[in-house]
Amino acid sequence: MTSLSSCPKIVSHDPRVPSNVHDHSHKSNVIFRNLSLPGLGFRNSQHGSHTKMIILRSSNHTESLVDSAAQISDVPNLSCLEAIERLKTNRETQKAKQQFLAMYSSVFGGITTDPAAMVIPIDDHMVHRGHGVFDTAAIMDGYLYELDEHLDRILRKGSLRYWLSVGPGDFQLSPSGCHQPALYAVVIQDQSPFDSKGIQVITSSVPIKPPQFATMKSVNYLPNVLSKMEAEENGAYAAIWLDSDGFVAEGPNMNVAFVTKQKELIMPNFDYILSGCTAKRVLTLAAELVREGKLREIKVRNVTVEEGKKADEMMLIGSGVLVRPVVQWDEQVIGDGKEGPVALGLLNLVIEDMKSGPPTVRVPVPY
Ligand SMILES: Cc1ncc(COP(=O)(O)O)c(C=O)c1O
Repeated sequence: MTSLSSCPKIVSHDPRVPSNVHDHSHKSNVIFRNLSLPGLGFRNSQHGSHTKMIILRSSNHTESLVDSAAQISDVPNLSCLEAIERLKTNRETQKAKQQFLAMYSSVFGGITTDPAAMVIPIDDHMVHRGHGVFDTAAIMDGYLYELDEHLDRILRKGSLRYWLSVGPGDFQLSPSGCHQPALYAVVIQDQSPFDSKGIQVITSSVPIKPPQFATMKSVNYLPNVLSKMEAEENGAYAAIWLDSDGFVAEGPNMNVAFVTKQKELIMPNFDYILSGCTAKRVLTLAAELVREGKLREIKVRNVTVEEGKKADEMMLIGSGVLVRPVVQWDEQVIGDGKEGPVALGLLNLVIEDMKSGPPTVRVPVPY
């Protein structure tokens, strides 16, 4: 990839090119949202020196795409600087909920604080083959929680998300043309306090990933995304997966735990699901609640749906939510329908651990 600073000078504009970048980005958004619909596709065609991208929309899903072209857009050829200008405009017009404070990329070998430059080469196999892994670590009061890494100077609370990719190369399936792995990391600002309000979950109808893939954090998160969308469409916060034997598994980006009537904290075992860092830490921190008499035992074992729905408490656990009480699962109200004392106690313990836990879980970010 050409480094951003070595972009060639702007070349002359093609007068046929529409100048309003927003029209294009708007159309692209519509297209991308509809990508999963049958009867929609793209075609590129060359007319002399001018390239057209033809967007094909079928009025009848059984019709051939090419015969039913309904919309044609001209796409300009941009210089590197023009492309970057448009990336900047795009960013400025986006009403982003999150702020990206900095990104490291091994491809350009540095850190950028300009969100417009936080890009990944299109030939990186992580982009077109999903050949990469990622993770996220929370940052609290300038300390990375449970990570031997560090990054930004000005951040107080947020997270660091990082990807290890097989790297740029070509558009083949095989990674043999990728010469060097790439590391990308972005610091995301988050000033909102951790939410302890009870939420509702449903059982996911999207199939869970097979254990080989569910136990790793690869970039193939389409099932997780679909499961979250299903939840949101049903007015719920998350959808819960069951494993192939029907036991409770996990949420799309969090683990699950329950408190039984006998005051046991039970967590599904990690054989078929992601072994969450937060869930593992919670298992250690929960010992404090045993000492206080709020819990009798802590167990990692199979949990049936029936047992889960009959529990006194249910909670989601992950670096995004920390510990979030669940008050309803499908039609079943959990416990008394209120945030449970164990979930709230565990949330406080995790926050305390992030703020003043041992050096093994807190890595200072040098300012
Ligand atoms: C599928 C899945 N399960 C569980 C978790 C929770 O893991 P952690 O506590 O390490 O964030 C995540 C985190 O993103 C996840 O994606």
